[in-house]
Amino acid sequence: MSSYVTRKTPGDVSWFTHDRFGMFIHWGLYAMPARHEWIKNIECIPEDHYQLYFDHFNPDLYDPREWARQAKAAGMKYAVFTTKHHEGFCMFDSQYTDYKCTNTLAGRDLVREYVDAFRAEGLKVGFYYSLIDWHHPHFTIDQIHPRRWDKDAFEQNQGRDMHIYAEYMRNQVRELLTNYGKIDILWFDFSYKKNPEYPEWMKGKGKDDWESEELIALARSLQPGIIIDNRADLEQDLWTPEQFQPTEWVRHKETGELVTWEACQTFSGSWGYHRDEATWKSPEMLIRMLINTVSLGGNLLMNVGPTSRGYLDYRAEAALKVYADWMKYNSRSIYGCTMAEPEFTAPDDCRLTQSEDGKRLYIHLYAYPFRHLKVKALAGKVRYAQFLHDGSELKYTENTMSHQAGDSQPADNDGMVIFELPPVKPNTLVPVIEVFLK
Ligand code: GLC
Repeated sequence: MSSYVTRKTPGDVSWFTHDRFGMFIHWGLYAMPARHEWIKNIECIPEDHYQLYFDHFNPDLYDPREWARQAKAAGMKYAVFTTKHHEGFCMFDSQYTDYKCTNTLAGRDLVREYVDAFRAEGLKVGFYYSLIDWHHPHFTIDQIHPRRWDKDAFEQNQGRDMHIYAEYMRNQVRELLTNYGKIDILWFDFSYKKNPEYPEWMKGKGKDDWESEELIALARSLQPGIIIDNRADLEQDLWTPEQFQPTEWVRHKETGELVTWEACQTFSGSWGYHRDEATWKSPEMLIRMLINTVSLGGNLLMNVGPTSRGYLDYRAEAALKVYADWMKYNSRSIYGCTMAEPEFTAPDDCRLTQSEDGKRLYIHLYAYPFRHLKVKALAGKVRYAQFLHDGSELKYTENTMSHQAGDSQPADNDGMVIFELPPVKPNTLVPVIEVFLK
């Protein structure tokens, strides 16, 4: 069994740390300008212009079953869908606002169709819900609000009452966790400290503004076992590093305990659909991000940003296919796996994962070596070894090289297992050696 003990969580993360891999879906009115989901903030878009996106939002090609099929093929086991992003537009039929998809040309509850489609494909379903709301009349204008530079921003703020907004959020979270069946993850986003460059009245927002204690207690009362992230400014189940690659298992700042963590990442430089953004990650990087994350005991939530018409564009589909092609043969090194035990050391240009039951060790080859791979401290521990993708046996020796090494045996072979590899790299982005341990 894995020797790693993680900090206890209020929610049930057992399925989550087994499944390892999910799809993030950022979809909203911001897909219309198609220039980043923060576009209203970035360009300080006036309300009347943003209303054009509401008036013309018509996802006539929305087919969440197709999204779910591609997620499943990619090896993703759960999804998290933006029910409301910072723009404040609701992708579900809320009774507490008119600023919702059922009042657009869409004319239907897009969250309902997402939930039904992903459940039908066997994936667990999560909701992203933005604490930030740049449309709600009682959300106070602050340092990141699109109206922050309006000449009368201060006057606009008078009369706004965050308690009314906090109640609005509780009402909507109640709708989301009551009307759509079992919800597995609730992903709040995000709290932010005061930026000294801004006046006090524009300060950031945290747990007191969101009334997070009450909000989270409500969520847990409606959906016992639900997994909740840490961005409502209260520690919950999930730590959520984003847009960087952690290089160690994330720990609790005060206690130093290992925590349950999920890295959320994008295929390109934007969460929402961004037509002209070109920094799409290479196939190798996509696969390595997944392996790197699991090799450190984490989950990967990889994002897609559908177009305003409702489909995944060719770049997102191609990226999902990269995962599908690799996971089809190599997912055994991901599901039910975690960081390898401390006794094992990854060779250069390799990453290790190990099954939770401790019986299987996976060696992921980032650079394909010529003929041999030497692994320290493995001698005497191997029952059998094979390439994972095709199940073909890999022969190995212990402590000595088998090949014309003669008297040039390196001194440091002790305790080593030396795998004998074919000279040609197998036809898989990252070959994996599956080691069945004694
Ligand atoms: C950041 C971005 C937000 C995105 C989130 C995903 O908070 O500001 O747009 O939804 O990351 O984790």
